[in-house]
Amino acid sequence: METNSAVSLLGRSIVALENFSATEIRLVLNTARKMKQIIRRGGEKKLPNLRGKAIVNLFYEPSTRTRTSFELAGKYLGADVVSITSGTSSIVKGESLRDTLRMIEAMGVDAIVMRHKAEGAADFATQVVKPIIINAGDGAHAHPSQALLDLFTIEQHKGRLAGLKVAIVGDILHSRVARSDVYAMTKMGMEVHLAGPKTLLPRFFDFDGVTVHEQVDEAIAGANVINVLRIQLERQQAGLFPSTREYARVFGINDDRLRLADDDVLILHPGPQNKGLEISSEVTYCDRSAIQEQVQNGVAVRMALLDLTLNGGGS
Ligand code: NCD
Repeated sequence: METNSAVSLLGRSIVALENFSATEIRLVLNTARKMKQIIRRGGEKKLPNLRGKAIVNLFYEPSTRTRTSFELAGKYLGADVVSITSGTSSIVKGESLRDTLRMIEAMGVDAIVMRHKAEGAADFATQVVKPIIINAGDGAHAHPSQALLDLFTIEQHKGRLAGLKVAIVGDILHSRVARSDVYAMTKMGMEVHLAGPKTLLPRFFDFDGVTVHEQVDEAIAGANVINVLRIQLERQQAGLFPSTREYARVFGINDDRLRLADDDVLILHPGPQNKGLEISSEVTYCDRSAIQEQVQNGVAVRMALLDLTLNGGGS
């Protein structure tokens, strides 16, 4: 489990996990483990690692946990952090993404954490400004920090990643979480099974280590981990989605369905949850659910990402 000291993410933007190696993922997970200890030890959380650094969170789409956890992560590491949301900034006056990014750059920031509804927005940002860009979700494309916190949570519970069977269930087609999970999980040697209504499954998913199922029960049979996805109602076109009752009955993760999985199955959900639709209350609050813990792990993983990219990970 030792990290290779030659690996470094210093100065690197984090747009997607396609180009991340297993060693780089390992570096993030090992750093996050140390960060989690700091969060949990109580008392003083403010480290000096990013003192003098400035980070802007630029969010064009709604977010509660991702934005707050990036903000706290930066603050726990001693950085100055400012959050801009689209509803309360000049974005509503029609300022373009390029101009907004250039304006933020001119203020002397070191990193921009951004969420945008357009696929490719974070990559575009890396081309027009110099600060490090961390993608906090671009349309249905990628959500790298979420996939890393999913891996971190799984490893904390299972003690390993390689060889585990994970089922990712729900609206795969519109899910940036599923896409980033697939890259990260297969790279770490996990066996990935995707399931959801036919209309919400990617048409061509030709990827080593990934099996696509139209039947949820097939995907979760014997699974060590189930990651339940939110139905992305805001990204749906008419006709892709059965009624909510029908969805809950055929695809929802409930107690009955859970019996098909491994006895010790771990339940994840990136949040926010449509309770009673993709997941039942009993499952959310059962002792195999790590949904609440994912939130804390999200802060630890985002601290790791900010520390590694802005500071090289040395304290
Ligand atoms: C996810 C997102 O925004 O992509 N949520 C999150 O970051 N916690 C998943 C979702 O919105 O369903």
